[in-house]
Amino acid sequence: MAKKNSQWQKSMQIKLDYNNVMAEYIGAEQGFSAEEFSANKKLALSALKYVKENRGTGMMGWTELPYNQKEIVADIITTAKDIKKKCDNFVVLGIGGSALGPIAVFQALCHLRHNELPKSKRKAPKLYVEDNVDPERMNALLDVLDLDKTIFNVVTKSGATSETMAQYLIIMDILKKRFGDKAKDHMIATTSENKGNLIKIAKEEGLKTFYIPDGVGGRFSELCPVGLLPAAVVGIDIKELLLGAAYMDKLCKNKDYTKNPALISALIEYLAMNKGKNISVMMPYADSLKYIADWYCQLWGESLGKAVDNEGNEVFVGQTPVKALGVTDQHSQVQLYREGPFDKVITLIGVENYRSSVEISQGCANIPDVNFLCGHTMNELIQAEMKATEYALTTAKRLNYTITLPEVNAFTIGQLLYMFEMETAFAGAMLNINTFNQPGVEGGKNATYALFGRKGYEATKKEMDEAPAKKSDYVC
Ligand code: PA5
Repeated sequence: MAKKNSQWQKSMQIKLDYNNVMAEYIGAEQGFSAEEFSANKKLALSALKYVKENRGTGMMGWTELPYNQKEIVADIITTAKDIKKKCDNFVVLGIGGSALGPIAVFQALCHLRHNELPKSKRKAPKLYVEDNVDPERMNALLDVLDLDKTIFNVVTKSGATSETMAQYLIIMDILKKRFGDKAKDHMIATTSENKGNLIKIAKEEGLKTFYIPDGVGGRFSELCPVGLLPAAVVGIDIKELLLGAAYMDKLCKNKDYTKNPALISALIEYLAMNKGKNISVMMPYADSLKYIADWYCQLWGESLGKAVDNEGNEVFVGQTPVKALGVTDQHSQVQLYREGPFDKVITLIGVENYRSSVEISQGCANIPDVNFLCGHTMNELIQAEMKATEYALTTAKRLNYTITLPEVNAFTIGQLLYMFEMETAFAGAMLNINTFNQPGVEGGKNATYALFGRKGYEATKKEMDEAPAKKSDYVC
């Protein structure tokens, strides 16, 4: 079946099954009744209306990324081809929204041991995403890179983030010492076109530059050059990613809120929050989706964790997102999820067809308690374990629902990313908060600037100096 064919796309539609949040399955005390959903239909539809009316404007520019990047995508593909020819390592320097998306999509869509594969099998550069300022990590990276065959991509929307700019300064200095005037051939910038320091530096240095559109915030930026360039460099079909996002966009316009995956999941989480369930666990049953959970944690946590609502009233809302991995965390976290406080909503992500199959070998015919595994596949085992967790959570009356990907490919990952972004926008509208700002993050950034003596942050420094000093009584 041709990939772009609509029948194939339909066969690749991801599914959301929310049976196990219903009172019928987990009891009236924890679960929701159909009547409770109906009572909140107006709220769901007003969130849908809000998104419809605001999409493409203000900080909701991300909604249009599947449609408005034809030329940019062409430029990215050409640039990626050139990078592939010239280099062996592609290193992203960025943090938060400038790093988590590239990591998630790389893990989802490349060979799980991509960087360890021999070049002949890898057929694309290795990818490193450096999202910390740990000096040991920086030196360890430099130990493994052949700079002659490395291109760096510094990514920062604000063009000011201390961590990213520090990394840039360190690397650019090394490149200049090594390559002189040709240093610029080893650095690409991805940043805002009209604001921030990186764009000024990029112009001065003559760097190849991609732009992050104004209305696309860090955590909503995976489907713009922030994520598309690294993805294209490692051989991911970025057009297919965007097609997946566009496909999901249609599903997210459905006015029947019970059939709109992003709207119904937002409503479930919203109603759960109102019942004090302030933890959202994201638990994929696939190593390839492990970092999608990380990416989701930033999206959900930073977007919905807000002190004030749109009218300025103190509300202190949000749900703490938690990442878990099936089946690994069944042996670490599920005890808590099943028997601990009733304060969580657990989302399980399953895969119908894994890209590999591994048979469990024969070898223990005379030990039935081991032999029951033989002749089955790991595929059957991981799927059975997900079903078992779903059953265990449901019988313990825990709110849980599943998202199923027919397989992990660029089209389904595009759908998944876009669905979570839409869900976040809907949930933010239901909570009546600004989903797209991050004053809490800015607070930390500003305090760092102050501590490092950046001009303009003297008042913050003074405030910090005047804060109550720590007492030795409380140190042991
Ligand atoms: O979502 C956000 O806006 C933030 O988490 C940013 O992505 C993060 O702080 C990095 O910011 P910048 O891209 O400006 O360096």
